Amino acid sequence: MSLLPQRVFSGVQPTGNLHLGNYLGAISRFVALQQTHDCIYCVVDLHAITVPQKPSELVANIREVTAAFIACGVDPKRHIIFNQSQVAEHAELAWIFNCIARIGWLNRMTQFKEKAGKDRENASVGLYAYPTLMAADILIYRATHVPVGEDQKQHLELARDIAQKFNNDFAESITAAGHGDAFFPLPEPLIQGPATRVMSLRDGAKKMSKSDPSDNSRINLSDDADTIAQKVRRAKTDPEVLPSETPGLAGRPEADNLVGIYAALADGSKADVLREFGGANFSSFKGALVDLAVAKLGPIGADMRRLQADPDYIDEVLREGSRRARVIAAENMKAVKEIVGFIS
Ligand code: TRP
Repeated sequence: MSLLPQRVFSGVQPTGNLHLGNYLGAISRFVALQQTHDCIYCVVDLHAITVPQKPSELVANIREVTAAFIACGVDPKRHIIFNQSQVAEHAELAWIFNCIARIGWLNRMTQFKEKAGKDRENASVGLYAYPTLMAADILIYRATHVPVGEDQKQHLELARDIAQKFNNDFAESITAAGHGDAFFPLPEPLIQGPATRVMSLRDGAKKMSKSDPSDNSRINLSDDADTIAQKVRRAKTDPEVLPSETPGLAGRPEADNLVGIYAALADGSKADVLREFGGANFSSFKGALVDLAVAKLGPIGADMRRLQADPDYIDEVLREGSRRARVIAAENMKAVKEIVGFIS
């Protein structure tokens, strides 16, 4: 790896049904960032078990995310792809962060409230502590930039708060150990693009989700060309033609979503799309969207199927990535232990 000072880290949960939202909101950015940063991309299996997982499905889902990373264009030779549970330092640093973060900080996390639902007493302790593990994922590599979806912004802010409090609480010790006046960087979220929030194809007010009971609500990365075409053609629309400018999308969530998806797949803006398709009806716009989606996603799905047919190769990528990640993590963990006052 080169000596660029900026390091990217991000994670994707292996919980099945990777879809267009994961691609446009996260993985396509991961690919682009390889040009400018040293990148570490992690399949966060420890996060997955904060809710119950069937072991046989978890294994398959870890391989699916790995295959998706590679099929989308992440290069496991130049950058690092690995699964979280193979690098023990994530869990080790998370414990120290559990002692840095305040209960009041975690109580504000909206994702916990949503995921725990009404029966909060019965949620796992892991689900509650999820954000401190996420902070450890990032900071064990002292990563500076974190591409994530909008929904993870609050967790990133918590990671910054933890980094800041650690730097403050141990300021003297950090200086004494020769790390200047701060050990952890304050990681920046990278949230960008017209379709960072991809909505359901059946309801423009709901996020595209792996858990939506209707498979027609999402385009899975593993869908073949015919399935992609069918889902786009069946996507919900409204009776109007497309507007020529973006303000005309207000109050039209389905139109806004499809235009956003087109823009993101074409690497342009919604305004560009409307300049081209303003005045068009949905059937002609959908025709163009089918062609674009199939051209972009068809090869990814095919590659994923090819890779998943060779689990030994995928497992080797993860082992090799873990080995390289561990080198960085171990060095930083050693420094953290010294700063905290442990003997090692
Ligand atoms: N919480 C993230 C999500 O559900 C996944 C994740 C875990 C992550 N650790 C991370 C993302 C570290 C970025 C950085 O999408």
